[in-house]
Amino acid sequence: EHAYDMIVVSNRLPVDYQAGPNGETQWRNSPGGLVTALEPVMRAADGAWVGWTGIADREFDPFEHDGISIIPVPLTASELEEYYEGFSNDTLWPLYHDVIAPPSFHREWWDAYVRVNRRFAEAAARAASDGAVVWVHDYQLQLVPRMLRESRPDLVIGFFNHIPFPAYGIYSQLPWRRQVIDGLLGADVIGFQRAADAGNFSRAVRRLFGYTTRGTIIDVPDSRKAGETRRVVARHFPISIDVAGFEEIARRPEVQARAREIRSSLGDPETIMLGVDRLDYTKGIRHRMKAFGELLRDGRLSVETATLVQVASPSRERVETYRQLRDEIELMVGRLNGDHSTLGHQAIAYLHHGYPREEMVALYLAADVMLVTALRDGMNLVAKEYVACRFDDDGVLLLSEFTGASDELRQAVLVNPHDIEGLKDAMVEAVRMPKRERTRRMRALRKRVRENDVANWSATFLETLTGAGIIQPGVS
Ligand code: G6P
Repeated sequence: EHAYDMIVVSNRLPVDYQAGPNGETQWRNSPGGLVTALEPVMRAADGAWVGWTGIADREFDPFEHDGISIIPVPLTASELEEYYEGFSNDTLWPLYHDVIAPPSFHREWWDAYVRVNRRFAEAAARAASDGAVVWVHDYQLQLVPRMLRESRPDLVIGFFNHIPFPAYGIYSQLPWRRQVIDGLLGADVIGFQRAADAGNFSRAVRRLFGYTTRGTIIDVPDSRKAGETRRVVARHFPISIDVAGFEEIARRPEVQARAREIRSSLGDPETIMLGVDRLDYTKGIRHRMKAFGELLRDGRLSVETATLVQVASPSRERVETYRQLRDEIELMVGRLNGDHSTLGHQAIAYLHHGYPREEMVALYLAADVMLVTALRDGMNLVAKEYVACRFDDDGVLLLSEFTGASDELRQAVLVNPHDIEGLKDAMVEAVRMPKRERTRRMRALRKRVRENDVANWSATFLETLTGAGIIQPGVS
């Protein structure tokens, strides 16, 4: 068996299993920010990617896809329910997003989470060469760092949390709060999106374990050497996108032609507003539609001049909270269109699909105002993608201050999406913003996004990780 020097472990592989028309296996690129961010890194290193194929009750041998070695980890149908839909997406996801939806706590789900995390850890341990770097990703796999350290103390282990880490008052609700933190502390470097997330994590470590923290360094008792400590670094590494890649697509003549075609198919409105999200309750889709509906009702906007395009890509559709949200959103869309659309002008164009990247870029180019109104979001890569595509220095980004992106993108129109009046004012401000002001802001945003692209993000993380072992004791 081949041993790899660099291994990425994430719940979802960069490819999704799809059955072809004659039952044959087809691999399609998977959705989500994580995959988008890591693909370029993996192409560059001779690494292997350990993860799940997106389908239950099927086993696959390792294979190559687009130059990346893929090591599939199988899940049974009940593990899919208890580990993925249950503990990952109905316990941890709502808890870590400030309990926007109530988290469910079930002991059987926790047992499945432990079991599946062990399977991922074993697959990574088998594939790793002596002293290899293993980079574990996201909330679905928080126990993997500790499991790896116990079985393979030779490895250099990094963990990156793509979603927020909540304040202690919320985190402490988790019945398994000690086990999860202990799992993470098996890593040498624990990365977060925002400084606030890293701060929340360090506070939880102090409250639950009483370990000493100095800035970004935590002294963790070494389970192999009694009385000694290991240094763990916990700090923020804001993730990004392939900035040049998005701009390159945006500059293609056929993509610009497609953007014009989108505008004209919507009846050439003065203003196109755009929302692009996984259909998730953290994204504030209802808040944005409520504000838009009230602006139409009050006559501050009209369907003759403004249209909202909402792309809501299907996500976690078997989880009840997501089903309910879909029903609520579709009810709102139906009502808003019924109340405000005319035969020539639609209030909301609602699209419950995922689209290829080229089509998304055309949409970004067509959009005068990009609405990112998440109630809580680790980073929000859509905000960065929009900015990366606007090589014309035009377009207005309206951005929730509850996203990680708002730490960097200060020149956006920043909003509190819970404040519907404030959101309405901000939407009107964005629609009316003079050209000079739009250009000034977009230039500043583009400069910022270019300074930290995804290659920069992964290089910074990996440098910190491989340098972590050589930090001199006593130097902080
Ligand atoms: C977010 C998470 C990822 C996840 C993605 C898609 O970006 O941080 O870990 O892969 O959503 O969600 P899904 O449940 O379909 O993998």
